[in-house]
Amino acid sequence: MPAKHPFVTKDQLVTIAEHYPTPFHLYDEAGIRANVEAVLDAFSWNPGFKEYFAVKANPNPRLISILAEYGCGCDCSSDTELMICDALDIRGSDIMFSSNDTPADDFRFARELGAIVNFDDITHIEFFERVAGPIPKTVSCRFNPGGLFQLANGIMDNPGDSKYGMTREQLFEAYRMLVDRGAENLGLHAFLASNTVTNDYYPALARILFELAVDLARETGAHIGFINLSGGVGIPYRPDQVPNDIHAIGEGVRRAFEEVLVPAGMGDVALCAEMGRFMMGPYGCLVTRAIHEKHIYKDYVGVDANACDLIRPAMYDAYHHITVMGQAGGPDKSGLPATRTYDIVGNLCENNDKFAHDRALPQVDIGDLLVIHDTGAHGYSMGYNYNGRLRHAEVLLRTDGSCELIRRAETAADYFATLDITDTGRALIARAARTS
Ligand SMILES: Cc1ncc(COP(=O)(O)O)c(C=O)c1O
Repeated sequence: MPAKHPFVTKDQLVTIAEHYPTPFHLYDEAGIRANVEAVLDAFSWNPGFKEYFAVKANPNPRLISILAEYGCGCDCSSDTELMICDALDIRGSDIMFSSNDTPADDFRFARELGAIVNFDDITHIEFFERVAGPIPKTVSCRFNPGGLFQLANGIMDNPGDSKYGMTREQLFEAYRMLVDRGAENLGLHAFLASNTVTNDYYPALARILFELAVDLARETGAHIGFINLSGGVGIPYRPDQVPNDIHAIGEGVRRAFEEVLVPAGMGDVALCAEMGRFMMGPYGCLVTRAIHEKHIYKDYVGVDANACDLIRPAMYDAYHHITVMGQAGGPDKSGLPATRTYDIVGNLCENNDKFAHDRALPQVDIGDLLVIHDTGAHGYSMGYNYNGRLRHAEVLLRTDGSCELIRRAETAADYFATLDITDTGRALIARAARTS
């Protein structure tokens, strides 16, 4: 099996873990920067191209601000995500508000910030007018073609079973409603498949949206200013997967653009994306330490992280590669052959709290550091507090090799904070304050 290497060495990690107690999410600034530069280069043929980073993938303001340095905006789906943007001075057309089942307050706040609202449903147009005010001049709509979404390499996803977006008929009607209400610059959006590890996804999606945009412009008279390819560009979680080539993806989208939009006189359309996983996934890892081993019907290694730090394996049976690094004073295990088979588990009272099952790994000893790869997107952000377990810290490995704490670990006081309305709650908060 091809190797998958952590972005830190064993010695680096031992030093980092001396300063920051495990577990913690570690991010690679150099990797984030190199990747965003590659994305922008791949789409530089489209002068209006903009990446709206999907904040849901990683809402850490420090990481978002790195992407903002390159001109990236943010794709938000809730009022708290909007607040993060506001705090970072990211406003107006630098925000794509791609929400669904949207509460009135969220629409009001999106309007206040001047965000581009991407309507998930036709009924949201009148709802928005009622709760947030007149339709802005620049707005967008989300399309759902239904059925199965297939590429040559198989079925990618099942839009017909997805709650998002509008049918084709609804989309045409929505465009007419928006034009009637004064919208001048319309956008078109779709998200048809998640974590696609193929260079064909974006080009295929682009062709669908470009052809639809030509029909929409012709039939509704709307000016289509931008087309949003959304997220879904995947990463190779498994070592045997061939990574996406963002330049091949950009070139495939360019070909569809030249073949469909340019002949229709729509060569001025700006493209945008809302990638989350591709922008951040590989540039984060969960660093954890082996604290127990247990041998019953299987061999288990208990680590100090759990599914509250990374729910993807428990939720989707998602594969995350694991590298056993070793510990201070011991050998570097990162290149050792896999001679053992383990389940790597956390401490939740849930049997799916396993970062890996039946995984071939080198011998793990108590005290060893383990790197759980590709947790930079949909990792910390999907965390939760089952069993009263707390979410841990986030640390940024800077380009100069230094480290910066970019989110502290939760404390028991954080966990109890919302109970401040009763005497018991206040007692718990005081109790937590004494132990933290
Ligand atoms: C509307 C929208 N945009 C963008 C994304 C980001 O997707 P990904 O992280 O796969 O790029 C998501 C993910 O759920 C989404 O729902």
